[in-house]
Amino acid sequence: MGSPAIIFGAYSPSKTKKEQFYKDVITGLKSMPKRLSSKYFYDAKGDKIFQEIMNCEEYYPTRCELEIFSKKTSEICDAIIGEGDGFDLIELGAGDATKSSYLLQYLLDKKVDFTYLPIDISQNVINYLDTNLPAKLPGLRIQGLNGEYFEMLKQAASLSNRRKVVMFLGSNIGNMQTNEALEFCKTLRNHLSEGDMVLMGFDLKKNPKTILAAYNDKEGITKRFNLNLLERINRELHADFHLSKFEHYPTYDPETGACRSFLISLEDQEVTINDKEHIRFAKDEYIYMEISQKFTVLQTEQIAESAGFKAIDCIFDSKKWFLDAIWVAE
Ligand code: AVJ
Repeated sequence: MGSPAIIFGAYSPSKTKKEQFYKDVITGLKSMPKRLSSKYFYDAKGDKIFQEIMNCEEYYPTRCELEIFSKKTSEICDAIIGEGDGFDLIELGAGDATKSSYLLQYLLDKKVDFTYLPIDISQNVINYLDTNLPAKLPGLRIQGLNGEYFEMLKQAASLSNRRKVVMFLGSNIGNMQTNEALEFCKTLRNHLSEGDMVLMGFDLKKNPKTILAAYNDKEGITKRFNLNLLERINRELHADFHLSKFEHYPTYDPETGACRSFLISLEDQEVTINDKEHIRFAKDEYIYMEISQKFTVLQTEQIAESAGFKAIDCIFDSKKWFLDAIWVAE
């Protein structure tokens, strides 16, 4: 953040973010086939809908990983504790830290020497964690970092030279295309030193019906989650999407493990954005919204190896539907 820009008022992060959002939406909707990025699902309303998804009957991943963090806490602790040297426990996209709180409490009880560094793109999340976690978990050393993952990882490395354990939970990695996920892991490795660790959550392949149902819940919460992005575009970018003219269409391919969701245009229509961009939709044309990749254990090990890590532990829930993998940087 260059201070001269702040002094002259030219630096406006919210404006820059909105310009990027606009650019991405226009590029995506002018592409063949049309696409939107699921990273834009999470405005204030999208955050709330995602909470509802996590609480709904069909969406199993959150419950599975919560089971791992609440019932296999000692196993996670044993894997990350190393030689007993002090370490920085970093969490990418910490959210409300419900799952990690189990681990934090356990480490505190065991008098382990660690500092918790949650990283989140939302300043609200960081403020919430900085104020609420120390009260909930007495004795916790915490320093929240607000910003992009890799920029904040650099900052974390400049703050201390202790060993790092980086958590990336919730199978958020599944939201990347296979090649992007590998690139992400390589970049992560480049920000770490030999001996540093990663605890990565992966949703595993399982009965296709179970997976599809998680993205096609009966109450239509996931449908609202997808349509909310059109509503956000209407609100923030002055567009005129008619939400009732689009249908949520989730798919799961058991062969590749790709779970994808689309919005299907129910008629020939034109949408105007910001009074100047006109986007035509043919009846039955789709917008590709999201991928939630499902993995085999072998695939996760291959990703670890190609990115410069050694996979040292696999921690599963009782159904073996979800994996928290533990990797060491080589
Ligand atoms: C937060 C990316 C893990 O892909 O399962 C839930 C988001 N999308 N239902 C996922 C999501 C539709 C979720 N992640």
